[in-house]
Amino acid sequence: MKYATNTLDYYWMPFTSNRDFKEHPRIFVRGEGVHYWSHQGQQILDGSSGLFCCAAGHGRREIADAVAEQLMTLDYGPPFQGGHPGQFELARKVSALTPEGIDKVFFTNSGSESVDTAIKVSLAYHRARGEGQRMRMVSRERAYHGVNIGGTSLSGLVKNREAFGVGMAGVAHMRHTWLAENRFSKGQPEHGAELADDLERIAAMYGPDTVAAVFIEPIAGSTGTLVPPVGYLERIREICDKHGILLIFDEVITGFGRTGSAFAAQSFNVKPDIMTMAKALTNGNQPMGAVAVDDRIYDTICNATQGDGIEFFHGYTYSGHPAACAAGLATMEIYEREGLFERAAQLSPYFLDAIFSLSDVAVITDLRGYGMMAGFDVVPGERPGARGLEVQKKLFEAGLHIKMTGDSGIVAPPLVSERAHVDQVCDILRRVLSTF
Ligand SMILES: Cc1ncc(COP(=O)(O)O)c(C=O)c1O
Repeated sequence: MKYATNTLDYYWMPFTSNRDFKEHPRIFVRGEGVHYWSHQGQQILDGSSGLFCCAAGHGRREIADAVAEQLMTLDYGPPFQGGHPGQFELARKVSALTPEGIDKVFFTNSGSESVDTAIKVSLAYHRARGEGQRMRMVSRERAYHGVNIGGTSLSGLVKNREAFGVGMAGVAHMRHTWLAENRFSKGQPEHGAELADDLERIAAMYGPDTVAAVFIEPIAGSTGTLVPPVGYLERIREICDKHGILLIFDEVITGFGRTGSAFAAQSFNVKPDIMTMAKALTNGNQPMGAVAVDDRIYDTICNATQGDGIEFFHGYTYSGHPAACAAGLATMEIYEREGLFERAAQLSPYFLDAIFSLSDVAVITDLRGYGMMAGFDVVPGERPGARGLEVQKKLFEAGLHIKMTGDSGIVAPPLVSERAHVDQVCDILRRVLSTF
């Protein structure tokens, strides 16, 4: 379907400098493979899989056909006390990818909803087992857990919080894991495992049996790809076990092959209790998120309810929407058939070498990377984020789309990319960043 865009006035764009954008628009009108096309007909290489969604590339006919067929078969069904086959099948497929024992899958419509759902699952779990006093949540500075009130409260980015009041009560933040001595570390940095002990301090401060869960992005994505220091995630797991705290991995970006395994939990060999996901679940083709939960959590919550009562008073009108499930199933089939997680693991060393070859570019102050994700920081301009926006615009003009957060860039190309595309991403980055 084609739309004529005659005015930009009426749409309030999310996380966008609206006034500047509307003067200098960057409109995507078409996507195919690893490319977009702009409203001016320019081809734009996609260096961030859209927003870390389109792992299988753009314009996948199989997904579009599956969605269209589903809509003509069953367009919508009531999700409460009702089901349709796609929900059960997609849950089975997702649970086959998650670590063993994390086998129950709840559907949402976004990463933010997945995070807020995970908050509620953890509270309901502790209450069901007689520890309802565990209400505190722990997360980290520089974390991004979406934009609903729960996720905003967990997040550790000042701009995402400062205008929005005090948020959810009872959230404590650990320090982030960026350390100057780790600058330009490829893969897991050497220093910083001891930062996990912040969790021990928070537990001691508030009482360990008041803490319900700790939220961790295995690799903090939106803040610029902060890879966990060697031993850090293991230490977090140990402290959680010691105090009965649930460990929740927010895998909204890291899920579905980005780290070279299905999930970062497998890449780092640390098993959480709950995992949140979204984005690449449908290759970004339908809005959808999911929360995968350890069987014992599901059993505890369900068994706490008598008879045939509803066990978990939570859900969305569009939980497990038929079209989203169809997109998810077609996406899983592509990942499997094309071996995209393995492909990511194979391409990763080449990708990281190419990215790290930029370390001599003067404006770059740090590079980080793991799997098919990398981050770079640039010397800030007159105020935080000003240089980042300038970089993003100049990259776009030069034919490359990269997600910038403040003065950090996040490079995460589609997993179907060829080496030549990686080279092209790095060539454009070098050319543009060298002008600063
Ligand atoms: C780790 C993480 N959690 C949650 C979210 C929120 O997802 P959504 O924008 O789909 O609500 C994001 C989005 O980038 C994310 O990176």
